[in-house]
Amino acid sequence: MNKKILVTGGLGYIGSHTVVELQNNGFEVVVIDDLSNSEEFVHEKIEQITNKKLEYHLIDLKDQEAVDEFFSHQDIAGVIHFAAHKAVGESVEKPLMYYRNNIVGLLNLLEAARDQNIENFIFSSSCTVYGQADELPIDENAPLKKAESPYGKTKQMGEEILEDFSETYKKNVIALRYFNPIGAHPTALIGELPKGIPNNLIPFVTQTAAGIREQLSVFGDDYPTRDGTAIRDYIYVMDLAKAHVMALQRLLDGKNKKNYEIFNLGTGTGSTVLEVIQAFEKANKVKLKYKITERRAGDITAAYADKTKAEKELGWKPETNLEESLRTAWEWQKTLK
Ligand code: WQD
Repeated sequence: MNKKILVTGGLGYIGSHTVVELQNNGFEVVVIDDLSNSEEFVHEKIEQITNKKLEYHLIDLKDQEAVDEFFSHQDIAGVIHFAAHKAVGESVEKPLMYYRNNIVGLLNLLEAARDQNIENFIFSSSCTVYGQADELPIDENAPLKKAESPYGKTKQMGEEILEDFSETYKKNVIALRYFNPIGAHPTALIGELPKGIPNNLIPFVTQTAAGIREQLSVFGDDYPTRDGTAIRDYIYVMDLAKAHVMALQRLLDGKNKKNYEIFNLGTGTGSTVLEVIQAFEKANKVKLKYKITERRAGDITAAYADKTKAEKELGWKPETNLEESLRTAWEWQKTLK
């Protein structure tokens, strides 16, 4: 039977774009998703983009029986694990839900991977594990700071668990630490689908431009930055998807140098919130209504990646600039009701 790649959370934002990239690169993919932060229609949209059937199972990773049952009928060569709750603010309100979902889900998956002798594992991690780094740009050796939220802690714990998993069971694991994923597929058939009021900047920007939100609040303009607003590294989602395929290929080809490897995925360039607004207005010829408000609790001043390691080891080069990424975000928003 053909070896398959399991993508958990494969109908979600970064997961769906990665599934498209995997299928377009000839991989046979199977998706698990519990639809807690995605919609079923994404499944046929992916098939529409790649013109390939996509095997999909509605499974909650917290349901160990369902996970074991799934794996007993599959022949999986590698797993790319996206399925997790990811809203920083919500994690502060509901920490136990976040630990149960993100950690128990991961443990069920890893126990099944161990028992089924699955050798290769890619983990969706985040630059949030660095907190406010002492030095910029941030490289993979930067010390991890105490995470500001239960969400961030589940990413740090996930990495610790995977490091031990890779050592003890001699598995090949890569943790990918994303900076700020943005944008949508060039076909505008898939993109970011935040449920309720968006936490992240870009969906709030596009919903404001679409008149769904009254105006954008810029969380603070008193940061020690060039224009007073906070700096982030906004990485186009398809560039991110490409990195996942390259990381998986590295493991399948046995090119990894250690059992457990970490890569930062960012453009290496920081943009302030006001620069994002200006880039969005310029790219899409729209005017954005915004006001400056208080800082958001837990926010850091600045984060942007040192992408050298991913470039050198994965041969990955993010090619899409901020304006182009924001154009795809707007094209996608305009397709939504
Ligand atoms: C970006 C900047 C805000 C909304 C988090 C997670 C990270 C990753 C992405 C989960 C900040 C400012 C935002 C708004 C604003 N994973 N902002 N007005 O906080 O950098 O990272 O999301 O999705 O792990 O930590 O991303 O998009 O929330 O904020 O001014 O309405 O935009 O203060 O400076 P963040 P974000």
